[in-house]
This record gives sequence, C-alpha cells and structure tokens, in this order.
Amino acid sequence: MKKLLTLAVAGALVATVAGCGNKTETPAASTAPAASTGAAATTAPAAGKKPTIGVAIYKFDDTFMSGVRAAISDAAKDKATVDIVDSQNSQPTQNDKVDLFITKKVNALAINAVDRTAAGVIIDKAKTANIPVVFLNREPLDTDMKKWDKVYYVGAKAEQSGTMEGQLLVDYFKAHPEADKNKDGKIQYVMLKGEPGHQDAELRTKFSIQAITDSGMGVEKVAEDTAMWDRVKGQEKMAAFLASSESKIEAVLANNDDMALGAIEALKAKGYFKDNKFLPVVGVDATAPALQALSDGTLLGTVLNDAKNQGAATTSVATALANGLVPSKETTGYDITDGKYVWISYKKITKANMNEAK
Ligand code: GAL
Ligand code: CA
Repeated sequence: MKKLLTLAVAGALVATVAGCGNKTETPAASTAPAASTGAAATTAPAAGKKPTIGVAIYKFDDTFMSGVRAAISDAAKDKATVDIVDSQNSQPTQNDKVDLFITKKVNALAINAVDRTAAGVIIDKAKTANIPVVFLNREPLDTDMKKWDKVYYVGAKAEQSGTMEGQLLVDYFKAHPEADKNKDGKIQYVMLKGEPGHQDAELRTKFSIQAITDSGMGVEKVAEDTAMWDRVKGQEKMAAFLASSESKIEAVLANNDDMALGAIEALKAKGYFKDNKFLPVVGVDATAPALQALSDGTLLGTVLNDAKNQGAATTSVATALANGLVPSKETTGYDITDGKYVWISYKKITKANMNEAK
C-alpha cells in the first residue's frame, strides 16, 4: 500500500493515474441510470425495512474523519442502519471488511479508502455483488470512478482548500509587513504535508503556494516534509525545521489542522506566542481543537472542511442508492456533478468568523 502511495507522489499524480493502466473504461451502455437496470431491486431492502449501509473508515484515529463518522451516524438516524468499521489504516483489512459487508448483503457501501488507488478492487467486488458504492474523502482515480454507474464520490475540491490556505497567509503578510522578517518581499515557508499521494496532500501543497504567487508576493520554500496528517509527527517535523533553519522561517503551512497544532507545540517550546514572538501558522479542517487555537491566537487561520455535510451527503447518497433510486438533488438534497460527484464547499476561517465553523 505504501508503495502505491509513494508511486503516486513525485508530483506526477496525473501521470501515475494514466500509468496504472489496468483499468478499462466501461462501455457506454453502463451509463444508463441505476434504477433502470432493474437489478437494483435485488439489493434494495424489503418493503418497509430500513436499508443497511456498510461504512468502512480508513482509520478511526483521525480527528477530521471522526467528525465525518459522527455526521454519517447522525444523518442515518431514521433513514438507514449504518454499520461503521475501522480499517485501521490497512488496505487488506479494509478489503476483508468489504467482503464481510458483501456476505452480510448490505444494501450499499460507503468507503473511505485506505489507499485511494485500491478503489478499483472494491468496485469490482461491489459490482459483482450489485451493491452500490459511495466513496468519500479519498477520491478514487477517474478511471476507477468510470468502472460502474453505481459508484459515487462525496468530497471537497482539494485545490479550493489549498488556494484558501495560501490566501489566508497572503492577507496576513499584506496587513503585517513586518512578518517579512528579512524584507525580501518573499514568504519563506515550511510545509507540513499530509499522506503522500492523497489528493488533499498533493493539491493543498501545490495550490497554497500557487495562491501566494498569484497574489504577486514572492515565495521561497525553506523545508517540506510529510507528517502524515498527524499531530505528534507535525510537532516532530516542525522541531526539526526549527533546529536546522529557525532564523529563515517566516510562515508555516500545514495540509491539515492536526499537523498545524503539532507545529504550534514545537513553536511554543521555542518561546513563540508570547512576548511578541509570533509565526503565522495555517491549517485546514477547522476541527474543535483548531478553533480553540484560533481563539487563543496561536493558529492564524484554517479552512473549514465541512465534516457535517460530507457525512450527511454520504449517508444521503448511499441511502438513495440502497433504496434503488438514482441519486439526484431531489433524492439526496445535494447537487450531483458529472453524474457521480457531490462536492462540498470549503470556507476560510479566522478568529473573526470562527463561529461559522462551530
Ligand atoms: C483530509 C483532512 C485530513 C485527514 C484526511 C484523511 O481531508 O483534511 O485531516 O482527515 O482527509 O483522509
Ligand atoms: Ca521574506
């Protein structure tokens, strides 16, 4: 799994997609609406019975996904029975859980893939059993999404979150010229990346920097490393950056809040956030501890990754499919883009509007 992920890195995300090359496109006929196949009826629940949705989360021990998980359950209340399992960050474990769901004849699957390039295998299993699948948060490759018409994705546009994160930093530097410590007109930054190969890690990294460049400000990377979405790793990596290049660093960009909060811990250990010693740190997610850090004045800004709507949309699309319906605005309450995607918007959050993220 790790190898697959690493393969997808190297900035060649798209090239890798093409390079995988083992996926054949589905024939045009398969784009017919789900309900028209009639076969859907075999997986639909008995009349008057709530459908069962098998949900596999990549790992329970992830702050943002814990919020999505809670939202999935909340939204299911009287519509569906959700059976939510922990894949423990292992793709083989997740595949076993999917097999079990199929044996139990669930009416739909909702999958937060451990390795998003493994979605094809899950789709093949689901298609054989005629159980519709909704992927969430970890976007399958385009070629996989096209394998079957009963495959959907609920997520958010990674580019958008990256752009917003970069803009938060630009706004700060424009309002605080002294933040450009060496007065060279450039932001010298360190980047804490999420899991390599994850669309959110690759695109947030790219588009946050792009937003700085687009603003007309210069930008220069001091250091970059992956901290795997993890707070403790974020702290360790930031401590290492400070040890090697503290005097150069003017800003910290983290692909998510947990890593940003880890970086803040490392900065605190070096005396920051008191006696006028400050470094702007930005993240993504707007988790509860991140909102606390915003109000404390340690975290400069974050981007709301809307766990509530991502969870609710997942339940809604999976329930519609489980009931043999074609997902649409009418059947799910969410816009369906390109016949398969539900995109939930991000939002910039600072101390000034943090109540909107609560
Ligand atoms: C991202 C989120 C991260 C992490 C990751 C898991 O969207 O920002 O904090 O939860 O998903 O796939
Ligand atoms: Ca500078």
